[in-house]
Amino acid sequence: MFRGGMKLKERFILGVSVAAVLFTFLLVVDIQMDLGMSGHHLVPSHGRVKYVQEDAAGSAYNSFRKRFLQKTHSASSTNASKEVDAAPHSLKELPEKKPAPSKEPKEKHDDFSDLMDYMMLDSAEREKHRVEIDRVHPVIQKSMEGDLVKVGNPTIAQLRKVAVRENATALEKFHLQISQHELYPADSELVDELIHEMATEPILHVSQKSGGTQLKLVIDYPNHLQALFKPMRFPREQQTLPNHFYFTDYERHNAEIAAFHLDRLLGFRRAMPVTGRLLNMTTELYQKAEGDLLKTFFVSPSDNLCFHGKCTYYCDTSHAICGNPDSLEGSFAAFLPSNDVAARKVWRHPWRRSYHKRRKAQWETEDNYCALVREIPPYDRGRRLYDLMDMAVLDFLMGNMDRHHYETFRLFGNDTFPLHLDHGRGFGRPFHDELSILAPILQCCMLRQTTLQTLMKFHNGPKLSEAMRESLGRDPVAPVLWEPHLEALDRRVEIILRGIRDCLQKGEDLGSEPGDEDT
Ligand SMILES: *[C@@H]1O[C@H](CO)[C@@H](O)[C@H](O)[C@H]1NC(C)=O
Ligand SMILES: *[C@@H]1O[C@H](CO)[C@@H](O)[C@H](O)[C@H]1NC(C)=O
Ligand SMILES: *[C@@H]1O[C@H](CO)[C@@H](O)[C@H](O)[C@H]1NC(C)=O
Ligand SMILES: *[C@@H]1O[C@H](CO)[C@@H](O)[C@H](O)[C@H]1NC(C)=O
Repeated sequence: MFRGGMKLKERFILGVSVAAVLFTFLLVVDIQMDLGMSGHHLVPSHGRVKYVQEDAAGSAYNSFRKRFLQKTHSASSTNASKEVDAAPHSLKELPEKKPAPSKEPKEKHDDFSDLMDYMMLDSAEREKHRVEIDRVHPVIQKSMEGDLVKVGNPTIAQLRKVAVRENATALEKFHLQISQHELYPADSELVDELIHEMATEPILHVSQKSGGTQLKLVIDYPNHLQALFKPMRFPREQQTLPNHFYFTDYERHNAEIAAFHLDRLLGFRRAMPVTGRLLNMTTELYQKAEGDLLKTFFVSPSDNLCFHGKCTYYCDTSHAICGNPDSLEGSFAAFLPSNDVAARKVWRHPWRRSYHKRRKAQWETEDNYCALVREIPPYDRGRRLYDLMDMAVLDFLMGNMDRHHYETFRLFGNDTFPLHLDHGRGFGRPFHDELSILAPILQCCMLRQTTLQTLMKFHNGPKLSEAMRESLGRDPVAPVLWEPHLEALDRRVEIILRGIRDCLQKGEDLGSEPGDEDT
């Protein structure tokens, strides 16, 4: 757990006094897929690139922001400065505007070969750069014979010692195969099966999910299949409303679908399968609902069937969800295992926003924030801090600012992945890149090696936008995303790579001084 104020303050004071005596920095790269020199033989672990600078005077985050913003200024011919200045810290939401198409010839493609070179340094070179061989990939490791094998990745079925029944449903099978390091393997057939079932099985019953702030429905299918339904409210082109805070923004059903595909394409596999589906509101919602939910259905003046449900935000007649005239699109997300199969633990996200109209969070004001986080379990060891970096990548790519808590499965302990849940507020502002979402990466200067490789692959090879277009093209409600959101993905991949380069360059500036390492 993330401990409270007092502890942090003490740690901060300690941290500052240490930093005042010496600049501490530490440069770590791991490009090997073996445990060889690691001191952590017993713990399955993962590849990583990390560069840590603990420098009281100005964080990489702020310097990157400054440089990035300067670039944006000079590059833009319009007076976009107002928006840019107000960018990452201010909660002010300025009206969206489309940047004027650049008239200059297209810039030369930057392939970030310097980052690639950096990853390819041989061990002697890395030694010179005070590079430490650390741990390897969580799932794939090299065996004694040199083969790549999966190790140390037990599934829920193995840990709970339950056999998968012959007649188990796709969702039951899916739950039991969830493993310590991922929700499903890269070649999973169950994912497609589950998506197909959610998109086509008859709907037996519909009820409202209690406790959410915005409307969600629980959909029951035959064979205990269950999905969480979020209805479409707006056309694809609708952007986050200018005066909405990220925490009052409407949830978008298509963001949930797109986030699942993005998480899978990035190789994280930490999001539950989601599919789109077109419903007949009359036969598939109205006739299957009961009680309080049923009472909220009505026919609008233009003869469309509508309902609003009951919840904290936007569940009233003026925010009703209406069919056309009675067909309605929505997202269907597979249910997580119930608590008696695999209970979850909820963690506060260290980089959570303040969720207050005026107050700032600690990470926004403290340059040394990452150093504090790194000392607190479970961020002081294992994969967790790297997982938060991955989460920042995912969230930055889709512009999701709504990540206050995250969850893990208890039975896997601390050395397990955080679930990527709840992405309804992603994909809202395709013309704005919210740099503050990258704060964990820019403040810690760390990123998992495999994630960096994936980003490089999409930057230099077939674009992420193309991969997404193709992947989303198979969804029943395709096209899932408005085109500018896809274009934004490619632009944001490059911004992340620039951020990492910035970290490395800062490290080299300081590289002649010997550093102290603490991991
Ligand atoms: C897991 O993390 C918690 C922090 O909430 C810590 O108290 C606990 O010691 C950690 N467990 C292990 C085995 O590291
Ligand atoms: C753009 O900036 C220039 C100089 O900074 C100013 O004179 C002009 O009025 C601005 N235009 C708009 C549309 O704000
Ligand atoms: C599966 O088969 C077992 C008996 O072998 C039975 O008890 C159970 O109800 C069946 N489950 C389903 C979902 O059909
Ligand atoms: C939904 O089902 C009802 C009843 O079968 C039918 O009258 C209506 O046309 C259907 N709506 C759509 C959009 O298919």
